[in-house]
Amino acid sequence: MSVQRTLCIIKPDAVEKKVSGHIIQRVLDEGFRIVALRQAHLTRTQAEGFYAVHRERPFFDELCTFMSRGPVVLAALEREDAVAHWRQVIGATDPAKADEGTIRKQFGANLGENATHGSDSEENGLIETAYFFPGHDLL
Ligand code: CMP
Repeated sequence: MSVQRTLCIIKPDAVEKKVSGHIIQRVLDEGFRIVALRQAHLTRTQAEGFYAVHRERPFFDELCTFMSRGPVVLAALEREDAVAHWRQVIGATDPAKADEGTIRKQFGANLGENATHGSDSEENGLIETAYFFPGHDLL
């Protein structure tokens, strides 16, 4: 195992529910170091660029509309085995299938409005943190 980076997004549904603070506390409780943190209201173009890999999926339009409907919190996280650990903490994509104690089980509503994002590979952890924190000195 090695120290990795992953991108956490607290999605618009979770920001609207005012649970960003709970999720950030969970990040800290799980032993992640917050390398960078900011709030942003994504433009549709930013959302489309971030999720470009899903461009051909039937839910792409709905996903980009949702992700740009209100503010999100973006956090670059670092930890041993960060990618797998954060995905375990957030739970399955569909909150109905997520384990008890996961963030999506606690705060997600459905497949689209599922409260949080986590990178799905070590490579994407680096690509996704760089997408939202370009040129930043990540501490
Ligand atoms: P995320 O981990 O951010 O990565 C891609 C997102 O697409 C995923 O979370 C879901 O929120 C969303 N998604 C996946 N499948 C569907 C679907 N069938 N309908 C709507 N959104 C989906």
